Amino acid sequence: MKILAIETSCDDTCAAVLENDRVLSSVISSQIDLHSRWGGVVPEIAKRAHEERIGAVIAEALHKTHPLIPSLEKGGEENFFNRYMSQIEVIAVTKGPGLAVALGVGIETAKKLAIKYNKKLVAVNHIEGHLMSNFIKNSKGKPDREIVFPALNLTASGGHTKIILVNKSTPSPSPLRGSKDFDKEGNSINMQYIVAGETLDDAAGEALDKAAKLLGMGYPGGPVIERLAALNAVNSKDWLKLPRPLKNQDNFDYSFSGLKTSFYYQIRDWPKEKVNKNLYNLAASFQEAVLDTLVMKFRKAAEYYQPKTLLATGGVMANMALRKKLRKMARELGLPIFMPVKKEWNTDNAAMIGVAGYYKAIRGEFVEEIEKLDREARLEL
Ligand code: KG4
Ligand code: ZN
Repeated sequence: MKILAIETSCDDTCAAVLENDRVLSSVISSQIDLHSRWGGVVPEIAKRAHEERIGAVIAEALHKTHPLIPSLEKGGEENFFNRYMSQIEVIAVTKGPGLAVALGVGIETAKKLAIKYNKKLVAVNHIEGHLMSNFIKNSKGKPDREIVFPALNLTASGGHTKIILVNKSTPSPSPLRGSKDFDKEGNSINMQYIVAGETLDDAAGEALDKAAKLLGMGYPGGPVIERLAALNAVNSKDWLKLPRPLKNQDNFDYSFSGLKTSFYYQIRDWPKEKVNKNLYNLAASFQEAVLDTLVMKFRKAAEYYQPKTLLATGGVMANMALRKKLRKMARELGLPIFMPVKKEWNTDNAAMIGVAGYYKAIRGEFVEEIEKLDREARLEL
């Protein structure tokens, strides 16, 4: 089954083409250059950029699957899309949560394409997309992972921080129900999700973005903080004393806004020179507080739910120090842990929407009235 996937929930314009769960092409047009000077994503700018770029991003993703035929110049745009869209069976699009005006661009594009080329449409929850990024395979079917259920997933991104227990539902007793409950190998692919814990305020990535802003650094803050923290010569990760929010509470929830406030109050009266002189220590201390908190609560949840596999996903998982901490934690718990193998599959991308869309498609979960599909900016998993 060939799938065209579209993702425009925030500041990346993304399209991908998949054959089942295998990615044939994936294109990401980042808008960081447009937003960084404002210290965060500006919705109207994001909307306009998505509108300008989405057509070219989709065309590039389609063209990459067979770069030799036909070229845009030779056949013209109409012929180009006719040729490529004839091979696509299903269109998958992010319907939320995310920035409403940004989501709208992807949704309208997907609707137009589905109607014009008579394709089935699946609408994918963005967080489910992140969660499914560990199920993405490259065109050769790698990585060949055995994800045993129940699995416990931590998604940490700029908009979300959630611990989700993932289970496969019991296979239907009647194979006559065919593709609705079984994939080609006869496995049940009905996923069941239980949100075990989540942030009560800011997301982990958002906290890193805000801390970077306080330090006068650019957007997005996560990678900036990571680079500065890595330069920290004294390796004093708690040079600045910062709290580990909700540490002693008997739940699996997070809270990052108090951490940011504590950081702010401690440095707000410092002259700029003092901040600049201690930039590496400050970045290292803040990063450590965020990562420590993420791992601590995830560990607590793993000890409680006793999963067979751990999964970690979302933009913040691009952080090498976090990946190392999570691997150590998994080793101590004697559990396998999987994280997306490619850096670009941690942050927003359309390949993850395509994989989630593939599993929805084989369950027969198509949008019934395509014209009526609307964004669900506050959709809960
Ligand atoms: O998943 P994502 O691309 O978008 C959302 O769904 O929000 O995540 C973006 C977030 C940003 O907050 C960014 O600062 C953070 O992921 N991030 C990182 C790193 N790369 C991106 N955080 C820590 N270390 C990184 N290397
Ligand atoms: Zn995301």
